[in-house]
Amino acid sequence: MTQFVLRTLPRVSQRISCVYRYTDDIPEEDPLPNDLVWNQATQGLLDRLFKDDEPRSKALSMLLRKGALGVLIHNSASWAGHCFVAPPGISLPSHLPKSLTKDFWWMFYMHTKDDFRGQGLQKAYIRLCLILVRNLNGSLESVFSDTSVDNTASRKGHLSAGFEPYGIIRQLELKIPKIGPLILHHEWTSDSHPEMQEIQ
Ligand SMILES: CC(C)(COP(=O)(O)OP(=O)(O)OC[C@H]1O[C@@H](n2cnc3c(N)ncnc32)[C@H](O)[C@@H]1OP(=O)(O)O)[C@@H](O)C(=O)NCCC(=O)NCCS
Repeated sequence: MTQFVLRTLPRVSQRISCVYRYTDDIPEEDPLPNDLVWNQATQGLLDRLFKDDEPRSKALSMLLRKGALGVLIHNSASWAGHCFVAPPGISLPSHLPKSLTKDFWWMFYMHTKDDFRGQGLQKAYIRLCLILVRNLNGSLESVFSDTSVDNTASRKGHLSAGFEPYGIIRQLELKIPKIGPLILHHEWTSDSHPEMQEIQ
């Protein structure tokens, strides 16, 4: 009972994210493993690939409606990985305040399905998203991304895809059950990224 009541109460927590900036040329293409292919995300493809995962399908459809671009890596049977990028000026990614991201292209919502992890897909979809940005924007200036300080796999993936560390964002959030986090305070400093934790 006490546990249930506690779970329904808003609580304050701190989020620390490592920020990355892309400054390089797009790396050479590594072929996708096995029978995987990629496509730019469209509503039709989301409907087909995520028909058994309604929450993810809804979340990704919302990103498209708000103006983000996405890359989907998949085979004929299943999705394997996805990554989205928000153009400057739209209210995405939603975990960061718009005041920080409004002038930049911001990569977010990277996810590799469990069965496909550890095969270089993160590096691949970051590269493919960079191609989408370059095709639309003509350059790769001002492409940023962030990931949680304790997400070692994601931090490694950002570095191997060619991102460079670009400071730390610290946020204080009020987590409101069923509504989401409300950002109470944020700061983006040029602090170095802390050492990565071992993956257990
Ligand atoms: C983080 C995540 C996206 C990595 O996806 P992935 O396709 O498995 O990543 P890759 O195979 O491209 O590997 C990325 C790097 O992490 C390393 N890595 C991945 N899984 C690892 C593991 N279990 N142990 C040690 N290193 C690991 C890889 O060696 C690689 O580093 P390297 O290029 O220096 O060799 C995936 O684990 C995931 O979807 N996690 C849940 C959602 C999430 O955290 N998203 C990121 C938010 S930005």
